[in-house]
Amino acid sequence: MQVFTNPTHSEIKMAAKSLKDGNLVAFPTETVYGLGADAVNEKAVSRIYSVKGRPIDHPLIVHISSAEQLGKWAIDIPDYATKLANKFWPGPMTLILKKSELAQEFITGGQESIGLRIPDQHVALKLLEEFEVLGGLGVAAPSANRFGSISPTTASAVEIELSSFLGSKDLILDGGQCTIGIESSIIDCTKATPVVLRPGAVSIEMLERVTGYVSLRNSIESNIKASGLLESHYAPKAKVSLGVRTEPGDGFIALAEIPTPIGTVRLASPKSNQEYAQVLYSALRLGDQFGLKNIVVVEPMGEGLAVAIRDRLNKAASGKTMRH
Ligand code: TXA
Ligand code: MG
Repeated sequence: MQVFTNPTHSEIKMAAKSLKDGNLVAFPTETVYGLGADAVNEKAVSRIYSVKGRPIDHPLIVHISSAEQLGKWAIDIPDYATKLANKFWPGPMTLILKKSELAQEFITGGQESIGLRIPDQHVALKLLEEFEVLGGLGVAAPSANRFGSISPTTASAVEIELSSFLGSKDLILDGGQCTIGIESSIIDCTKATPVVLRPGAVSIEMLERVTGYVSLRNSIESNIKASGLLESHYAPKAKVSLGVRTEPGDGFIALAEIPTPIGTVRLASPKSNQEYAQVLYSALRLGDQFGLKNIVVVEPMGEGLAVAIRDRLNKAASGKTMRH
């Protein structure tokens, strides 16, 4: 495995060629780092599952460089989905649409739908464009972490997570720290109205301004398999608890305005919800690096991005101690 730091155009071209040849390329997006493979190459895609240790029936998001690719992967696209794509792509939003023939079972986990996203990150977009120049149709990419663990927001976190599982021809593109820091909003567009399956930086209010009524998954029946929807997920090795009760030696994450309880190890002091999302995963990782047993997190209040941060914190908090 090789790492290209601040990759040049020609290094990104090499990475695109490597993807086309069936290797894996981890790359930055504005949300979290992704572990990419050619979305029509079954062998390459199967390596994503083995490197991540992810169950084979969990579907992958296909990343594309422009909305022109959308019609190749999806059919019967509702008007409201086109509106969302026009408004928020490139950006931190994944649309779940009825799949075309191109989207095979090894991408969709056997479902009739496909997840699609155009990321808003210059290295990612260049990689996708160069991949398409070579005849590629899309890059399947889950977050570049082991199954159940926290998504990486830096290239070094990807290296720590995956270097012992990647092969000599695989690559990591280091494009710096992710600006958003938590995974994309996932919107199910296979129903009459949009359903938010995973909240993210494109908030419910932002979606409603474009499409009118939007529902949250919790309020409807859904049997869609999405690992991000499992309750115990996005968890560090330390036990995460929510609230303000701390013991000496605990890690502590809260907005800067909240003082550090005596004896705790402050892992992050974000000044806004935006900064909270950006630093959250690296703060949880830092707690693991320090070998802390417990991390106490004070959730941010309010709507918008705070909803997505609380969603991830609740998932991290329901993770068991010492997950692997
Ligand atoms: O921000 C992101 O979305 C990042 C970056 C790399 O783009 N990707 C990401 O992928 O978070 P992943 O695989 O770690 O999480 C995607 C979630 C999974 O829970 C997956 O099961 C769900 O999306 N998903 C994918 N396709 C789906 C589908 N057709 N129906 C329902 N859920 C789907
Ligand atoms: Mg993930």
